Amino acid sequence: MGLKILGTGLYLPEKVVTNEDYTKIVETSDEWIVKRTGMKERRITGEPTWVMAKKAAENALENAGLSPLDIDLILCTTVTSDYITPSLACIVQGAIGAKNAVAFDINAACAAFVYALDMAHMYLANGYKRILIISAEALSKITDYTDRSTCVLFGDAAGACIVTSSEKKFASALGTDGTGANTLFARRPLNDIPFVEQADPQSVDHFPDVNRPGVLYMNGREVYKFAVSAMSHALKDACEKFGTSPEELDLIVPHQANLRIIQSAAKELGLPLERFFVNIDKYGNTSSACIPVGLAQLDAAGKLIPGKKIGLVGFGAGLVYGGCVFEL
Ligand code: ACO
Repeated sequence: MGLKILGTGLYLPEKVVTNEDYTKIVETSDEWIVKRTGMKERRITGEPTWVMAKKAAENALENAGLSPLDIDLILCTTVTSDYITPSLACIVQGAIGAKNAVAFDINAACAAFVYALDMAHMYLANGYKRILIISAEALSKITDYTDRSTCVLFGDAAGACIVTSSEKKFASALGTDGTGANTLFARRPLNDIPFVEQADPQSVDHFPDVNRPGVLYMNGREVYKFAVSAMSHALKDACEKFGTSPEELDLIVPHQANLRIIQSAAKELGLPLERFFVNIDKYGNTSSACIPVGLAQLDAAGKLIPGKKIGLVGFGAGLVYGGCVFEL
């Protein structure tokens, strides 16, 4: 059994932050950011994450021609939930009036949309009919705007996708390396326990804000190395399980963390860069929202063509990775 996309949606905040804007707050340049990341702009907002999620969900419902009452499961992914509890999914369920839906969150950082889709696939096999996945991230809330090595990377966005079962195939490959937990993390503002037990002292020296609660810490070089191998490994593995090869994929929507990571993964897979969807120049890294926002943009452009084979691939804090392949 596979899955079928019934509708996609997105929400991109209006406020644009350019590379030039960062030169006013940290020592950086447009040239460095473009050359090292491929990013030119991102969007940020002061809205709660659930408001962003609600807007993306309503957009997806409208595009699918469905009512909130048609949804029987809502899966939300976020690393910037407004509350420790309740979940983002419960708040959105109430806000859109999807009273027939069970709702809960999934935390798999930037790879979480792929994890949610994989979970949706299993729930569909168990009888659920229409599942709404929403990935909403307000990374500006956890960005350390004094750390030039991370603050230029992140933006806010929300993407949504409604899926149902289909006769077509679906395959996924997920993986976790928890020994890399200290390379990318954010402490809860309420949590007074510093994440130092596993932290590399060198990284602590290099990133002075490592112990400040509430903001994202990242050892960029370590995450970079993990990302390149995880991206190609996850896609190859998912293709193998599907019974195809990466060359057979018509389209790949990768996590948008760094253009160089996407280029390296394309090279490792022996695929042209044109096969990969890229919008990193406009929106930066919006964590788990990158992939569903990409899907919604492709959908709006009429590029999610039935019969085409698509690959999705993400990686992120955990460290985790996930790839999946399905026929549209
Ligand atoms: N402007 C100017 N110089 C900078 C900036 C900046 N914005 N940021 C870092 N530098 C400097 C560093 O201080 C360093 O200077 P030094 O040599 O004097 O120490 C130099 O540039 C090189 O630093 P590197 O860290 O080696 O730069 P690199 O080319 O690796 O790029 C980057 C850094 C963009 C962070 C890269 O490592 C990367 O993309 N890593 C992966 C990030 C990622 O994939 N994150 C995904 C998960 S995010 C999530 O889960 C929410």
